[in-house]
Parts: sequence; C-alpha cells; structure tokens
Amino acid sequence: KVRLLDQIRFRCLCTFSSQLQLVKSRMREGLEAGLKSKGCTIKMLPSFVYHTPNGTERGKYLALDLGGTNFRAMLVRFKRQKSRLYHKIYTIPLEIMQGTGEELFDHLAQCVCDFLDYMGLKKVRLPAGFTFSFPCQQSGIDTGTLVSWTKGFKATDCEGEDVVNMLREAIKRRNEFDLDIVALVNDTVGTMMSCAYEDPKCEVGMIAGTGSNLCYMEELKNIEKLEQSNEWGGLGDDRCLEDIITPYDAEVDMHSVNPGKQRFEKLTSGMYLGEIVRQVLLDLTRRGLLFKGHVTETLKTPGIFETKYLSQIESDRLALLQVRSILQQLGLHGTCDDSIIVKEVCGAVSRRAAQMCGAGMAAVVDKIREDRGLERLSIAVGVDGALYKLHPHFSQVLKETVGVMAPHCNVTFLPSEEGSGKGAALIAAVVRQKQEM
Ligand code: BG6
Repeated sequence: KVRLLDQIRFRCLCTFSSQLQLVKSRMREGLEAGLKSKGCTIKMLPSFVYHTPNGTERGKYLALDLGGTNFRAMLVRFKRQKSRLYHKIYTIPLEIMQGTGEELFDHLAQCVCDFLDYMGLKKVRLPAGFTFSFPCQQSGIDTGTLVSWTKGFKATDCEGEDVVNMLREAIKRRNEFDLDIVALVNDTVGTMMSCAYEDPKCEVGMIAGTGSNLCYMEELKNIEKLEQSNEWGGLGDDRCLEDIITPYDAEVDMHSVNPGKQRFEKLTSGMYLGEIVRQVLLDLTRRGLLFKGHVTETLKTPGIFETKYLSQIESDRLALLQVRSILQQLGLHGTCDDSIIVKEVCGAVSRRAAQMCGAGMAAVVDKIREDRGLERLSIAVGVDGALYKLHPHFSQVLKETVGVMAPHCNVTFLPSEEGSGKGAALIAAVVRQKQEM
C-alpha cells in the first residue's frame, strides 16, 4: 500500500521543479505568441481597460457578475474614494447553464429585475458593468463575442454571439426595466480593478475558483493584434503539457463538456480537482488498495467528489474520524487507513494545482519585470475564487511557488473583498466619466 501511495504521490501527481519550469516557460511562450497572433491556445483577449482606477470615480452603478458558480447583482456607490455596496446572489440551475442561450439570458434578466425591485430602482436607468467570466473577443469596452463556453456552461446559440446584445435583448423581452450597459468585463479584470482601487500597485488579477484565469496590465506597444485578449486556462490545448498530464487528467478531460479544451484550467481549478481525486480513488480501489477493493456505484458517479470536500478533508483541524465521516456522508465507507489515503490524494491534487498556478504566475510577473527593464519588481495581485479563499493550503503553496519561481519579484497577494463586480462598476464609472467629458 505504502509503495503504491508513493507512486501516486511522487510519480504521478507530484510536480518536480523541472515540470514547474516547463509550465513557466510554456506559459511565457504562450503569452508572447498570444500577443502576436490569433488562434493561439492562450487567447490574450484585450480588455479595453487602459488604466487602473485613480480614486476620482463617483456615482451609482449597477454591476452584474456571471462568474463561476453564481450570478451576483450589485449596486455600488462611489463617493470620495469610498465605496458602498449592496448585493444579492442568485444560483444558476444546471438546466439553465446547459439549456438555450435565450433561457440563460432571460434568467439573468429575471434576477436583475428582482434585484432592482428589492433596491427600489426599477424606474431608474442605471449605468451597468457586466462581468462575464468566459473567453470573449472584445472589439470595444461594451461589446464582446463569446469564443467558447468553459466551466461546465454549454447554453446553445451563444458562442460567436455578442453577449452584451444577448443581455440587452433579454431585458427588452422582459420589458420591465432598462439598463445602460457600458462595460463588459472579465472577472480577472474586475478583480484587478477592484483591488487596484485599494492598492495602486495591483496590476495583475487572478481567479482560482470554479475556473482558473489571470490578467495583467500589458504595455500597449507589445500588443500586435488588438482584436484579441486573456484566458490562460487554454495553455496545453496544443498538447504542450503532455509531459505533465496524467491518465487521471486525461479521463477527466475526456468526460468534460469540452474535451481537449482548457487543459491548464482542468489541472488547476475547482471545477475539476474533485473529479481528479475521484479518478485516483477509483484507480486505487480497482487495484484493491482502497475501500477493500469495492468499486461502488457512488464512486463511479461523476461529480460526487466536489472540490469543497478537498478543502474540508485537507483542513489541519480535522481529525481522521471526521475525514472518515465526510467520506461516509458521501457514501464512501472506509477504514481510518482509507481516510489517510484519501487525504493524501486530495493533498497531492490541490498542491499540484497551486504549484502550476504559481509557475504560470511566475511567467507573468517575470515578463512584466523584463518588459520594464527592472532588476527587481514589486507588484500586487488581486485574487478571488473559492479555491484561493477557502482551501486551507492553496494560497500558501501558490505564494511559495511564485517566490521560488520568480525570485526577482516581490509579489503581494490581495484577496478581493467584494468580488469582481465592484471592479466592473469602477470600469463603468471610468467609461461614464469619459463619455461625459
Ligand atoms: C467572485 C467574483 O467573487 O469570484 C466573480 O465576483 C468570480 O466574478 C468568482 O467569477 C470566482 O469564484 P468561484 O469560486 O465562484 O468560481
């Protein structure tokens, strides 16, 4: 047992520093290629946001945030470098995520209607920022075509369409309120803007949640094609990470809604880590090393091992008996020895994810440092997402890895306090101020 466990830990899921170096250099190559031409695996989608906030933003804005797990509607008021925020969270049922585009956007319009009702603002036409956290090819600040769905969404008739138009149409169909949608924003950009409002050194935004993505302020002169912008989750879609991808990852990819796509995201984000763990557990059980070799229907069920269980199981405060009882609640009945193995597997999968993100981020901050011709760079990164915020070790491993892989950069992490919606509202405020000038 111990020998096999070692194999899982050290051969398969353990990342060697050479592998992290490989991720870092592939990420750097991907960034450079993405800035130069279209059709690359890292899309480097420009956000049309040219500045981080400067504190002069004023007024009342609506922020709509379709992120990883939820839809958030938010009212943000900026007044003398302070902001006040009111928000409501709505879940997106699976049948809506995977139904038709019209149903999805009608559902969003219904949530916005409920929020405006709740705030008593249905009669006011507020300027709004729309955080839409899927790869969009923007040709301006308030327009963007969905390149492809990620994170389990697959609503029909959306890919290739302008998502701002789709929302405007849904609002029209509802005919109960009106909005002035002035900005379309990716969640990484929203997070960066929201953290930059507190700390001007923040020039990178990262999401480690259901999905995995990052944005940074690039020098305009380095962008050869302004039609394109920012999804790092696509690294590996050209098979450049084959040396790192394990049979477990391949299995998860094969059964996802977008096989062959978002390979880096599938190694690093909350939507997939639980599934990777389930694949390892299945393998160990089939080899008779876990759960007395009984491959139950539960263990064979995709999605039963959600990433939130990784966070719980890996908590240092949890005794083994508690780990065992979590597994029992999931329908996985095992001994205390089994619990030890499951905990080891969870640790290996989440550690690898954090290290990969760290290697990717090291590529980005080193690029910024070199572009600026600096010996040392001090920079802050705004971060959001349940994996970063709720997992007991992810943030620490990420930080340590960046420290080792980018030794000439001092990187400070700023957990986003109010989500990326505040950033979308800030961008809407900047756009509005410009229009009024
Ligand atoms: C939220 C942001 O706080 O975090 C969203 O407001 C973002 O825009 C989300 O997409 C990511 O976290 P998760 O864990 O829900 O994917």
